Amino acid sequence: MMPPADSAGFEPPPYPYDRLVPLREAAQRHEGGCVDLSIGTPCDPPPAAVVAALGASDLERSYPLSVGSDAYRRAACAWMQRRLGVTVEPEHVGACVGTKELVAGLPHWLRLRAPHRDTVLYPAVSYPSYEMGAILAGARAVPVPMDAQWRIDLDAIDDADAARALCLWVNTPGNPAGGLDDLGAAAAWGRAHDVPVFSDECYVEFTWDGPRHTILEHGSAGVVAVHSLSKRSNLAGVRAGVFAGDPDLVHYLREVRKHAGFMVPGPVQAAAVVAWGDDEHVEDQRTRYHQRLVRLREILAELDIPCDLPGGGFYLWPEAPDGDAWALARRLAEDLGVLGSPGEFYGAAGARHLRLAVVAPDAAIELLAERVAR
Ligand SMILES: Cc1ncc(COP(=O)(O)O)c(C=O)c1O
Repeated sequence: MMPPADSAGFEPPPYPYDRLVPLREAAQRHEGGCVDLSIGTPCDPPPAAVVAALGASDLERSYPLSVGSDAYRRAACAWMQRRLGVTVEPEHVGACVGTKELVAGLPHWLRLRAPHRDTVLYPAVSYPSYEMGAILAGARAVPVPMDAQWRIDLDAIDDADAARALCLWVNTPGNPAGGLDDLGAAAAWGRAHDVPVFSDECYVEFTWDGPRHTILEHGSAGVVAVHSLSKRSNLAGVRAGVFAGDPDLVHYLREVRKHAGFMVPGPVQAAAVVAWGDDEHVEDQRTRYHQRLVRLREILAELDIPCDLPGGGFYLWPEAPDGDAWALARRLAEDLGVLGSPGEFYGAAGARHLRLAVVAPDAAIELLAERVAR
């Protein structure tokens, strides 16, 4: 039966980056075009061997395993062992089609598992899909305040919200502000409150302050780490990630996702094995991003826009001199042809800041420097 015409159905809000179209047009008018630092989409090449593996897998015909092939999960485990120092069994890993679909779908699946709970806790200034996943599941999205270093403030979580929580999201290094959370504290908080903690670690390879950390260093009980090849290996276009950790949670998600038909395509799984297996390209990418962060910071300093280098990730997060990030975004687009993302996209508490992703080639960043010099 059709619902009554006046029932209020879900109306998708404008997609944040669609709101930048007028600014992109203004930036595009500059000679040399727009230097687009708005979306965190990689511009550098993935390793040639990974691209070759996509074409040579011979895995097009049959359905791929939803949980990920043995080789896919083993390669991810070997990477976690090498780069993060943790031992994870392949049975405690599942594949995801990039991590955004997992982030956006998770509250729905966790609600099926715990129907009496209805709340998603997530950092107040963060990747918008944590909130959107809650909204899409008809759950309550409750932002958790952050401290002055853009770390999640676990003490600020209300006990009543914790009692209703399907999960707590943490993201370190954090998008957009580059903060580094205490993941041991997050795991302990989750265990103390009986709330699963999902740790989005997709920027872990680009940790600048101190060693790389995963929540799995603190045991797997009640916690799940989420990893992606999008940023690590410049493979956002092929869609490959994993979730790993608590055996019961991972088992549940693997089973539900199998029924729902989530599958990383076979050729992508084969290519991902090659990508997880190589660290040299990641070291090259680390050098590129770090150099660009330093260079862009110098350019901003010439414009009297000071900012710190992030603890991790590939974003600068300057505060607008007068606190109006939309005005700063407009000024930069119109005067210099560079596009950033107003911090409001990541939560009201970020509204005074602008996010600039160093995902443009070095030549584009130098073009920006030339425009500033003129
Ligand atoms: C914090 C965070 N998590 C997850 C994602 C999703 O990445 P993907 O779906 O490509 O794995 C992004 C992408 O920008 C991100 O910034």
